[in-house]
Amino acid sequence: MTIKKIAVIGGGTMGSGIAEVAAKSGCDTIVVEIDASLAEQAQKKLEVSTEKAVSRGKMTDGDRAGLLNRISFTTTFDELTDRDLVIEAVVESPSVKASVFKTLDEIVQKDGILASNTSSISIGEIADSTNRGPQVLGMHFFNPATVQPLVELIASEVTSEETLDKVESFTREVMGKHPIRTIDRAGFVVNRLLVPYLLQAMHMYDRGQASKEDIDAGMKFGCAHPQGPLELSDLIGLDTLQLVAEVLYDEFKEPTYAPPPILKRMVTAGHLGRKTGKGFYTYE
Ligand code: NAI
Repeated sequence: MTIKKIAVIGGGTMGSGIAEVAAKSGCDTIVVEIDASLAEQAQKKLEVSTEKAVSRGKMTDGDRAGLLNRISFTTTFDELTDRDLVIEAVVESPSVKASVFKTLDEIVQKDGILASNTSSISIGEIADSTNRGPQVLGMHFFNPATVQPLVELIASEVTSEETLDKVESFTREVMGKHPIRTIDRAGFVVNRLLVPYLLQAMHMYDRGQASKEDIDAGMKFGCAHPQGPLELSDLIGLDTLQLVAEVLYDEFKEPTYAPPPILKRMVTAGHLGRKTGKGFYTYE
């Protein structure tokens, strides 16, 4: 089976980007949202994003028209029977994801592959709500999905090699992304490396070892990172970061993943970084 027909469940931040990538790469794409107004919002987001791509010279008018023709927005799962691959990008809730996968398992043709864009929920746990464990995997895109090349492919204990091979070649050759493979452990590859680094920068700042500007400058000008760790933490959102750190700590019980006191205090105070205009830095 070649992957040609895609569905994306959830047209939010990640789902709308993933759907754009799928339709751009020539796939017939259906986006499912909860209700008509959210489906309309997701469609509008796609129209604006592709309009910007045209104005920046990244896409021709003709390519945009083709892309918009290949994508449709709906509020039911009924049209998903013939899908080769479904990528779920709904809210990060185990119970919501379990219910989505149970329904997908009942509706999608038996050869269809089901993927989750989850950042922290175990793929094995998600696969448990289906009867097709070998055809369930994680496809973790990075934000914004239209720009970031990386996709982590996560194999549960029961994901088949065949599924991984198919999705890996689709991700690389059709979507034009850079897939990497990992087993099903919290944080996968990137967050497991990135989060302890960000948390160490917070400890360092909290202990007064260096100013926030100097900590960030150290990594920008010494290691060619585009942002320093405290700027990046503000960008990700301190509440999101605390949540991810808690998931990692819960899984590995290693102190390096424990949320530092300063992070907890800032989140309690509603200082969530760019989202609220105040974090390690203040934003207008
Ligand atoms: P979001 O809140 O922007 O979008 C989620 C969308 O799913 C909403 O539009 C909601 O209406 C829709 N939805 C919820 N339940 C649904 C259902 N039963 N059927 C259809 N649609 C439903 O969330 P976001 O940020 O796009 O995250 C989605 C997933 O991607 C989460 O699992 C998250 O952990 C993961 N992720 C998020 C990243 C980010 O930077 N925001 C990066 C990588 C992964």
